[in-house]
Amino acid sequence: MEIETQEILPDNEIIERFINFLMNFAIPDENGKNFYKYREEILYITADETKRSIIIDFPDLALYDQDLVDNLLRTPIRVMNLFNSAFRKVLKTFNEDLTDDVLRRYRVRIKDVGKPISIRDLHRAENLGRIVNFRGIVVKATKVKPILRRAIFRCLVCGLAFPMEFEDEFQKPSACPNPACDNNSRFEMLKDGMEYEEYQELTIQELPEELPPGQLPQSVDVIIRGDLAGKARPGDRVTVYGIVKTFPERGLRTGKKPLFDIQIEALYVDSESSELEEIQLTEEEKEMIESLKKDANLEEKIYRSIAPSIYGYEYIKKAIAALLFGGVPKTLPDGTKIRGTINVLLIGDPGTGKSQILKYVAQISPRAIYTSGKGASAAGLTAAVVKTEDGWALEAGVLVLADKGIACIDEFDKMSKDDRRALHEAMEQQSISIAKAGIVATLNARTSILAAANPKFGRYIPDRDLSENIDLPPTILSRFDLIFILVDIPNKEEDYKKATHILGLHTKDIRPEPPFPPDFMKKYILYAREHVFPKITQKAAQKILDFYMKMRGTSKAEEEETLGMSPIAITARQLEALVRLAEAHARMLLKDEVDENDAEFAIELMRLSLSQVGRDPLSGQIDIGILSTGVSSSKRARYLIVMDIIKELEEEYPEGVPIKRIIEEAKRKQIPENFVVEVINKEKARGNIYEPRPGKYKLVSY
Ligand SMILES: Nc1ncnc2c1ncn2[C@@H]1O[C@H](COP(=O)(O)OP(=O)(O)OP(=O)(O)O)[C@@H](O)[C@H]1O
Ligand SMILES: [Mg+2]
Ligand SMILES: [Zn+2]
Repeated sequence: MEIETQEILPDNEIIERFINFLMNFAIPDENGKNFYKYREEILYITADETKRSIIIDFPDLALYDQDLVDNLLRTPIRVMNLFNSAFRKVLKTFNEDLTDDVLRRYRVRIKDVGKPISIRDLHRAENLGRIVNFRGIVVKATKVKPILRRAIFRCLVCGLAFPMEFEDEFQKPSACPNPACDNNSRFEMLKDGMEYEEYQELTIQELPEELPPGQLPQSVDVIIRGDLAGKARPGDRVTVYGIVKTFPERGLRTGKKPLFDIQIEALYVDSESSELEEIQLTEEEKEMIESLKKDANLEEKIYRSIAPSIYGYEYIKKAIAALLFGGVPKTLPDGTKIRGTINVLLIGDPGTGKSQILKYVAQISPRAIYTSGKGASAAGLTAAVVKTEDGWALEAGVLVLADKGIACIDEFDKMSKDDRRALHEAMEQQSISIAKAGIVATLNARTSILAAANPKFGRYIPDRDLSENIDLPPTILSRFDLIFILVDIPNKEEDYKKATHILGLHTKDIRPEPPFPPDFMKKYILYAREHVFPKITQKAAQKILDFYMKMRGTSKAEEEETLGMSPIAITARQLEALVRLAEAHARMLLKDEVDENDAEFAIELMRLSLSQVGRDPLSGQIDIGILSTGVSSSKRARYLIVMDIIKELEEEYPEGVPIKRIIEEAKRKQIPENFVVEVINKEKARGNIYEPRPGKYKLVSY
């Protein structure tokens, strides 16, 4: 290491040199003439009241005055204060009308400065008091509040008035500055001499994609002052340039351990740079990905790279591939937005590999988070306003943190009530609005959801409706483009193959090698999402339309053609889903156009999903009413018929209708006895039917 020989410059020299830099730093413009970057900027700043800071590119300063830079890096807090004074002096020369109290609100900010480190290394002793920079995601932001920076006190003995400035802690004067006065306790603070500045604290967490495997994300609090406060929102990815400050954990007390905590005093917070830097692809990697277009087995390789240790479930892996690459979001001429994100729900018996699949997907997707619906943080899946030491703060949940990525949510049926409420908006509008305790915000949640849930009764019961099998409201179910059911039904041949596959994993040390390793999948997906925007062709659109029309069935003949699917089986939601799925298929193959082949892929998956969850257990037909209301239309109709029968018979039996009579009437309408008993028991439990005498029933009238 080099021995530091630079001298510490005196305050006035630092001010002078920085003024010199602001006024004279120049770069040549297109015509080779000098462009005074910062001097010009200061002209703009004095003209615009909302701008109260100048952003210095650190490399400019390093080029101009190495001594100044050395001093800044060694004693950052002192030098930043001097830079601020210098900047205010320059402002004053540009605009004489600026008064001191106004000038004190202007600040110098510096970017591209300091050592780049990870959040978990901030607390290391060598970084304390130093300038660092790090990337992360804003998980929590407090309300912006005014903080008292300066006040005027008056001595109650001699009457002298004098100012005091505060950094983080409020203090009372400890002695009167008048040499002839020895008062050290009796002062009053003048009400009209107080100066404030905007103040906010952000909690920044490590980026999910930069987390060491198996580690919990760590976070750090960042202090933001002045016009920079209130700019960053939870969910934003940022680069922070700042000074690592220490403060005693519980106040320093004699005889106690002097432990410290850290906070970052922000010099600048950049929300754009972080978006771009994320995962940088080299030219070679881009070419390599482009060349895959020629690979005839590309599609197969993608599927085999998804959860290779899980046997079977080819169609689920296809659906997951579509979810990973995503459809193309659109904005219609009237401004409405159609999401491109694909949501997939896996409902399955215990031990069918759901958690394994979700964890694997989180590894191969850029910006993915694996979480449980039970939720670890207060913010849960969406967002929450939480109480902090000095007020309220907005905290981002998983869907916000995985904005533009994928949220793999296990135990989806076990999420909190608040999450259930907020989830509709998140899944359809791609945003989360919150208004509580004076915090009003809309956060982005352009997140694809891969969710896993257990059936309500432990196992999926095929002759019951979807809604009876799962503890989720139809309003949430209908936001999933595809729903699949994983059942654990014994099947000799399949069981044998699966068992040998699993045993192979455990006995041999070889794991099935995915054709594309996780790191490459991430890059591939990112590249496709950023560079491939396939357009739907006429032929593909026609194919999807044909399927859609057939499913909505206009004539009896057409209905039969659709293999027993009942008419009006499909809604506009599924139409949009079909388009998304077809786009995603074209995208994973790096195609510019969505062709018939892509449309077929979408139709195949949709048909499979509908045949698993959209089947009416009574008629055996596919019925999309199940998806939008939770019960099949035929079942709903029969339900109402039973209720009507009771109602009609009540005139004949005012004391209560005997169950035998209800069953008789129902049989005449082709409704079986067990269904009647089910309706009566359910409605009794709900309080809509009562039993005035044993075996006799009446409707509760309101
Ligand atoms: N098709 C499969 N191929 C290979 N392994 C499997 C398969 N299905 C299940 N397993 C294995 O069985 C174990 C249990 O799976 P997992 O924990 O993912 O089940 P789950 O569906 O999440 O169950 P639960 O509903 O109880 O949470 C895992 O070790 C998993 O790898
Ligand atoms: Mg599980
Ligand atoms: Zn005094």
